[in-house]
Amino acid sequence: MLRPVVQYPDPLLAKVCEPVAEIDDGVRALAQDLLDTLNTVGGVGIAAPQIGVLRRVVVIDVSPELNDPEAPQDFRVFINPVVTVLDARPHEENEGCLSVPELRAKVKRPRRVALDALDLEGRPVHIEGEGYYGACMQHETDHLDGKLFIDYISYLKRSLYDKKMRRGRR
Ligand code: NI
Repeated sequence: MLRPVVQYPDPLLAKVCEPVAEIDDGVRALAQDLLDTLNTVGGVGIAAPQIGVLRRVVVIDVSPELNDPEAPQDFRVFINPVVTVLDARPHEENEGCLSVPELRAKVKRPRRVALDALDLEGRPVHIEGEGYYGACMQHETDHLDGKLFIDYISYLKRSLYDKKMRRGRR
């Protein structure tokens, strides 16, 4: 089911999410809602708090794993994801977020990471990647700890954006 995407500065986006203890019908329904929403609104990833659910579940497009720019998007569900840095040298990507409208900004993150999680059948899954793909793994997992990519941008840029969003809400 398509769910509305929670928009900054909604406080839900700043909460730390609960780990999934058991993969039950509720978790399967949540995963389906994330997939349906991402497929409808478009993007490379989405995290549960972005549809208002404070549980540790994300969906990420894993097609870059194939190293084929022509590969179609391939959305996978990751439960209780944990990111490990494999190469800490900084790498900059131009990031955006479905929950942060009208802003893209350059963000520096560790270059190469691994992501370990469970799939919907409870099996362990492991992916690794760098560049845009690695940034996506870090960006989505950050959502589960209440962190947004704008937490990494300069103070000036952030204040300008906050001001603009506050004006929009009046
Ligand atoms: Ni995001």
